[in-house]
Amino acid sequence: MSDNLTGTTVLVVGGAKNLGLAIATRAAELGAHVVIGARDGDAAQKAAATLPGARGIAIDVTDEATVASAAADLGAVDHIVSLAAAHHNVAVADLDHDRTVTAFEAKVIGPLLLAKHFAPSMPASGSIVLFSGVAAWKPSPGKAVMGITNGAVSFTASHLAKELAPIRVNAVSPGIIDSGTWDGMPDSDRAALFDGVAGSIPAGRVGATADIVDAATWLLTAGFVSGETIHVEGGARSA
Ligand SMILES: NC(=O)c1ccc[n+]([C@@H]2O[C@H](COP(=O)([O-])OP(=O)(O)OC[C@H]3O[C@@H](n4cnc5c(N)ncnc54)[C@H](OP(=O)(O)O)[C@@H]3O)[C@@H](O)[C@H]2O)c1
Repeated sequence: MSDNLTGTTVLVVGGAKNLGLAIATRAAELGAHVVIGARDGDAAQKAAATLPGARGIAIDVTDEATVASAAADLGAVDHIVSLAAAHHNVAVADLDHDRTVTAFEAKVIGPLLLAKHFAPSMPASGSIVLFSGVAAWKPSPGKAVMGITNGAVSFTASHLAKELAPIRVNAVSPGIIDSGTWDGMPDSDRAALFDGVAGSIPAGRVGATADIVDAATWLLTAGFVSGETIHVEGGARSA
C-alpha cells in the first residue's frame, strides 16, 4: 500500500470548501489530478484554481442530469470522494417532507447516482469514499434524519463494495470536527459545543480537519479495504 496518488484522477464532490477542499488539497499534494465538484460550478472552479492542475465542475448529486453530464465530460476517474450533505435537524413532529428527501438524496441517493454514472468507466483499481457521521450511532432527539441518513451511508458503502467490485467502496464516519462548517455559529455556542464534546469523549478533544483528511486519503490507497466504515471520532460512540 502506498499513499502515492500520482497520475490518478480524484473527483471530490463537495470539494469547494471545508473537509472536501482539504481532501482535494492533500490529493493534489500526493500527485493526483484533482477535480472539484460543487453545486456552484463557479465555486468549484475558484477552489480548483488554488490547486496545481486541478479543475472544477458543477455537480449537484440531487440532480441526476448534472451527475450524468459530469461523468460524460470527465470520462474515467480513478477515485471519487463524496461529502455532500443536507442535514434536516428537527424533531420528528416538525419534519418537512421535501427537506427529508433532500437529506437522503445528498447522502444516499446521490452516491448511488455517482456509482451509476461513473463506475462503468472506473478502473479495477478505483475506489469511492463516502461520508457518514457519528450521529448514526448516537441517537438523539432532533437528529433522526441526520442519524438515519449517515447510517444508510454505511450500508451504501458495503452494498456498493459488493456490486462494484473490484472497485472498492468505503465510508468515513467523522465525529465533531472543527472543519469550518461550525464557523457560522456564534463563538460562544461553538466553544460550548466543542468543550462539551471534548469533555465527553475518550480523545478529549474535537477532531481536526487533518484527522479526516488522513483517513480519507488512506482509504483511497488501502487496496485491501472495501465495504468498511472507518470511524474517526475520538471514541465518541462509546461516550
Ligand atoms: N464537520 C463535522 O463535524 C462532521 C461531523 C460528522 C459528519 N460530517 C460529514 O462530513 C462531510 C463534510 O462535512 P464538512 O464539515 O466539510 O461540512 P460541509 O462544508 O457542510 O460539507 C458538505 C459539502 O457538501 C456540499 N454539498 C451539499 N449538498 C450538495 C449536493 N447536493 N451536491 C453536491 N455537493 C453538495 C457542500 O457544498 P455547497 O453547500 O457549497 O454546495 C459542502 O461542500 C459531510 O458529509 C458531513 O455530514 C462532518
